[in-house]
Amino acid sequence: MDMPEPLAIGSRVRMTIHDLAAGGEAVGRVENFVVFVPGGAPGDEVEVQITELKKNYGRGRICRIFKPSIRRIVPRCPVYNECGGCQFQHIDYDSQLQFKTKMVEDALQHIAGLESVRVHPCRRMKDPWQYRDKVQAVVAAKPYLPAGGPAPQRFRPYVGFYAQGTHKVVKVEDCAIQGSLNNQVLVAAREALERLQWPVYDEKDGTGLVRYLVVRSSRKAQEAILVVVSAQPRLPQVQEFVDMVRKRVRGLRGVLLNLNPHRSNVILGTRNQLLWGADHLVEEVRGLKFHISPSSFFQVNIGGLEAIYDAMDEYLDLKPRDTILDAYCGVGSLALYLARKAKRVVGIDESQAAIEDAVINSDLNDLANTDFTAGTVERILPGMYQKGVRFQSAVLDPPRKGCDPVVLDTLVKMHIPNLLYVSCNPSTLARDLGILANQGYRTLDVQPIDMFPQTFHVECVARITRK
Ligand SMILES: C[S@@+](CC[C@H](N)C(=O)[O-])C[C@H]1O[C@@H](n2cnc3c(N)ncnc32)[C@H](O)[C@@H]1O
Repeated sequence: MDMPEPLAIGSRVRMTIHDLAAGGEAVGRVENFVVFVPGGAPGDEVEVQITELKKNYGRGRICRIFKPSIRRIVPRCPVYNECGGCQFQHIDYDSQLQFKTKMVEDALQHIAGLESVRVHPCRRMKDPWQYRDKVQAVVAAKPYLPAGGPAPQRFRPYVGFYAQGTHKVVKVEDCAIQGSLNNQVLVAAREALERLQWPVYDEKDGTGLVRYLVVRSSRKAQEAILVVVSAQPRLPQVQEFVDMVRKRVRGLRGVLLNLNPHRSNVILGTRNQLLWGADHLVEEVRGLKFHISPSSFFQVNIGGLEAIYDAMDEYLDLKPRDTILDAYCGVGSLALYLARKAKRVVGIDESQAAIEDAVINSDLNDLANTDFTAGTVERILPGMYQKGVRFQSAVLDPPRKGCDPVVLDTLVKMHIPNLLYVSCNPSTLARDLGILANQGYRTLDVQPIDMFPQTFHVECVARITRK
């Protein structure tokens, strides 16, 4: 639909918000012309100022709410409107879940034309707040003049998250979706940075030291590991820093320095140096213990991981003689759960650190029937196929970009009867399910899981069988 005549950047229009888009923005229309409205809720009647115009759509900012939607609630976080971390705090939890279910249905239909799949209602979390066990916060600096008259300008470090779509850092002291231990560590580390006046990294010219603070904590033991990401390997008065944070946070178990001198958006560099304490955490879920290194992937929400376990129990009819593939296995969080029921589980992950953790985790849980290999699935799996390896079921849990075509092709050639696809991106899930549908596979069920409440993200588990 073409742009209506009077619409221009800066113009104000009245509209009713009728939907939410896949990226979390609300959607309204002016004479059928689509306008994306961040912060809108379906049912809102609003006045919007147009900020961006393209041929087929526009974007606008709410200037006035004439009539709020019945789905609208007061956001819990004081910096919700500035911070880019959450998109749905202004929408009640039931509506968030309904929207996520619909988003998955739409992706399956529009991207892959899959109409007969049973998409179940999005599984809710018992507590949709304070659920995250990992935080990656940015360290930024603002100039300040100490009280008591003119003085040389110094810089005060603060810690926060990028505002949506920008590199402006919004100060966050008490993130509403983080576990309280993570917030405590961030505050203690920020205070220590202030006292020691470590130079903050400046992404414009690459000068300075401290870039990010990454905290991972264990739900069960309530212990945390702090990783300070720095552009340089040496930090002044590093022992003082460690002592200050330790004194403030009882559950702190270790502090590491991660070296990242690269001028890119990647948060962690490849080298970790232990400054104090333990270099890993131990988490316990459903009776399984997991050794987790700071650079290995582990689900950020334990309630969400348990929901994946429940879906695996329901969708995979495992027999004690089965050999199972866990592709993209990470530290083995799914593989070890499966190993308790199957004859053998074969895991593949490209991260050497994750595979080392997975091997440790097998020992930690006295599971001798696992076999983990480091390498990309697209390289390792075809080699296994050539050697005649076969599986009764396969679990796939790729990153957001989904599976490489070589992986799907090899799974098809291996004639695996049952597949279970775990995905954090409905679009690439739909694409891959569409490819499998053309190669003799049928998706029976998709269970969306609300792994990331208050945000537009959704996890899915799909049950796929050979026709
Ligand atoms: C979404 S995580 C899933 C990890 C694990 N299943 C879990 O639940 O903890 C995706 C994993 O894929 C790995 N990965 C990314 N690209 C890969 C590739 N091409 N081949 C193998 N592993 C890959 C990452 O290291 C990461 O551990």
